[in-house]
Amino acid sequence: MTKIKVLVLPLFLFFCGIEMMAQSEMFQYDEREKISINQSWQFMKYDSAEEADDLIYDVRPEVTDARDDKPADAKPTEAVEVVTAKDVLKPWIMPTGNQFLNDSTKHYQRPEGNPGGDFDFVQPSFDDSDWESINLPHDWAIKGPFLKGWDAEVGGGMGRLPSPGVAWYRRKIFLPQADINKSVFLDIDGAMSYAMVWINGELAGGWPYGYSSWRLDITPYLNPGEENQIAIRLDNPPNSSRWYPGGGIYRNVWLVKTNPLHVGQWGTFIKSKDVSEASATLELEVKIDNDSQEEAVVETLTKVFSLNKDGEKSKAPVAVFDASEKSIPAKSNITIKDSVTLDNPRLWGPPPTQTPNLYVAETSLLLNGKIVDQYNTEFGIRSIEFDGERGVIVNGEPVFIKGVNQHHDLGALGAAFNKRAAERQLEKLREMGVNAIRMAHNPPAPELLDLTDNMGFLVVDEMYDSWERKKTPLDFHLIFPEWHEQDLRALIRRDRNNPSVIMWSTGNEVGEQYTGEKGAEVARRLREIANQEDPTRPTTASFNYAKPDMPITEETEVINLNYQGEGIRNAPAYAHLEGINTPPLYPAFHEKFPNKTIISSENAAAVSSRGTYVFPVTEGISAPVSDTTGGDSENDFVSAYGLYTTPFGASPDKVFASIDKHPYVAGGFVWSGWDYLGEPTPYYLSRSSYFGVIDLAGFKKDRFYLYQSRWRPNHPMAHILPHWNWPERMGEITPVHVYTSGDEAELFLNGESLGRKKKGEYEYRLRWDDVVYQPGELKVIAYKNGEKWAEDIVKTTGEPAALKTSAERKDINANGKDLAFITVEVVDEDGLTVPTANNTIQFSVEGPAEIVATDNGDPTNMTPFPSHQRKAFNGKVMVIVRPIAGKPGAIQIKATSEELENSDITIESLFENK
Ligand code: GAL
Repeated sequence: MTKIKVLVLPLFLFFCGIEMMAQSEMFQYDEREKISINQSWQFMKYDSAEEADDLIYDVRPEVTDARDDKPADAKPTEAVEVVTAKDVLKPWIMPTGNQFLNDSTKHYQRPEGNPGGDFDFVQPSFDDSDWESINLPHDWAIKGPFLKGWDAEVGGGMGRLPSPGVAWYRRKIFLPQADINKSVFLDIDGAMSYAMVWINGELAGGWPYGYSSWRLDITPYLNPGEENQIAIRLDNPPNSSRWYPGGGIYRNVWLVKTNPLHVGQWGTFIKSKDVSEASATLELEVKIDNDSQEEAVVETLTKVFSLNKDGEKSKAPVAVFDASEKSIPAKSNITIKDSVTLDNPRLWGPPPTQTPNLYVAETSLLLNGKIVDQYNTEFGIRSIEFDGERGVIVNGEPVFIKGVNQHHDLGALGAAFNKRAAERQLEKLREMGVNAIRMAHNPPAPELLDLTDNMGFLVVDEMYDSWERKKTPLDFHLIFPEWHEQDLRALIRRDRNNPSVIMWSTGNEVGEQYTGEKGAEVARRLREIANQEDPTRPTTASFNYAKPDMPITEETEVINLNYQGEGIRNAPAYAHLEGINTPPLYPAFHEKFPNKTIISSENAAAVSSRGTYVFPVTEGISAPVSDTTGGDSENDFVSAYGLYTTPFGASPDKVFASIDKHPYVAGGFVWSGWDYLGEPTPYYLSRSSYFGVIDLAGFKKDRFYLYQSRWRPNHPMAHILPHWNWPERMGEITPVHVYTSGDEAELFLNGESLGRKKKGEYEYRLRWDDVVYQPGELKVIAYKNGEKWAEDIVKTTGEPAALKTSAERKDINANGKDLAFITVEVVDEDGLTVPTANNTIQFSVEGPAEIVATDNGDPTNMTPFPSHQRKAFNGKVMVIVRPIAGKPGAIQIKATSEELENSDITIESLFENK
């Protein structure tokens, strides 16, 4: 007996050894690779929709009402039913979203066949050498030209740029023979829109929503040891958006190679519980995919490291989740869960009172003791509470929301994501005192959330601008019934580890506000999905119409009100207007939902053209813009006194007062932080918005200082408006307004006091409305608690004499992605910026860089963005310069203009290895 035993054991071990060897070869570790494949694509867009191939995702309804100038708060309408027998590719695309449909019986099966498989553009042998060579991120429409007029093919609403259309992108990727056993994925962070992908001529899948990030498993279609052909078709419908959507693969694209046994897509979730400065419990979930044909016994080990502000991780882990061993059957997945307690966590929180500390969790999967996959998850440890009285509480501290809404475009760069351009937007907002961003009205680029994590902004991550009912004929309501679950789950899985995200917004001003219980059902379904995916964050949806007694308002955990808080069209200056009309609704919502936090998710919708002033100035604190109140419909300018609004809006002053009168309101988000392309209310013939506190080029409008005075009360500042160049207003009343973080100020004109004024209760600006214009110097001295606090001076300038160039940063990174933003000002002999100058300026660059775009922030300016010549707008113009990758050196940017002294500036492009 003993002998047999002795024999059997080695034999058993011998066979196990073979088994183990086979397994470990199959699952051999080779570092997970995330390879950027942004470079070297070939691109072709059809000249017109008629010319396009018919490889369509689905049939779209006929557009019978193409009006692009509907008021933002027009009532959304019912979807149009389409019945067709046409062949569509949707059935082959739907399976791409399967892992985001929780009910596996609803998963889509790929039908037989390979639509488009014999179409030229998907063939590896197709010669695309006469297509345009481009790099991603790419926005095919941003170079223009702008389409002008009332009946332009793309009107003001969508930004007058040719974003609609059908286009193809092609590129080859080489897959080394050594990758034969790997799983290979194509990760697309955003493609606008209705993307469909062929690999080596096989239709592999796609994703319709242009703002979602998505992944295709392309392993089955690839040939190792060979070049493999990727072909992507996009189809961006006309009449599909209320703003400029951009067109193209406008975010990053990656090739991800892993072991067949790997952490799944967005497969980790780290929640912090019982957070205090003394300790925090971290709960970890890891979803592990086994793509192989064999069962695997996997050990999971996760170590947590702290990150310093440069993103470098600590030498030793600060916490380790116990290793756990689990078996995963072939071709399936499991989710493992574990928790650990961390002492003295460095909490993530918004500046200035808190610090946005971050951690990274390094998850390793081990097979037979060998690492086969490693996956990093950046996260932050923080607690967040939502209270009906105290608002948003981060780590025990109530944080008043000083927020702005931001659309996704980057002005003259379009929708093509650029991290530096996004960072610049946030930096300027931070300077204004902003601590929160609402991503209006769609998922942002993932890198934008890395920025908000690092800089410590609070974020409302939003899903859709419409659900089943439509705002424009071909907007994403078309896909909502079949894709809302996949889109919403994908968004949450992607962004749930970002500490900056504090809530999920499922929709903005959706038509379902008008449909009673039926609309509430849709809201409930979305809330339930979000709650399942992430029990740590509340959901919301923004209401500009729904009232406390309507069923839909029960269905959000945080009440987000657009404009209704301060009342819509209810002040005397607005009384004559038609449309939604409500009294200030904070009290009614607070009474109905005393335990729910109320946030003003959109407020103001004030409009202005930077540095433009129209007289007379309204006496009240808020008025709808018209030809007699702030508007200049001859030139399509709106006065920058900060008092004029859309018909449903309210000036910042009115918004501040209403929030201050209702202290349980948690704060709010201004519409909008920056100007954006499209929605040029009130002047449809323009190309970009008037809403921004900062203009499209990044120049501050006067309103910037009004917000800064309120949001940074300890920052000594005073700001005078308007400019003081009014030769045609000699002896005429020219009101002077002052924004200051002080409480009192004295204004002087040419040394003579015009009186000292104090802010009254619910007053946010100081007004000298009867100043009689004479040229010279305006000076204000501001006081706080009786002490001198700040001053500002505005002088009448001379004629334009010279140009002045300045750079926001002296050094940039020679990585081909960084950007230099160069301001050019028209100045007089004394170097003062001439606030009315509109000289035409030419730009050139010498050294390892190129001019990408120019802009002056004027919504009426139709010069295409790539132009190297542009008029100044009210004294200023912006040039955006990109360094050539891998070529460091001095870059000289030169500005010239007839009859003006030229100016140039030199910046350095450096190797930084980042
Ligand atoms: C709101 C809408 C925003 C924007 C804004 C200004 O009603 O939610 O997307 O359109 O008005 O017009």
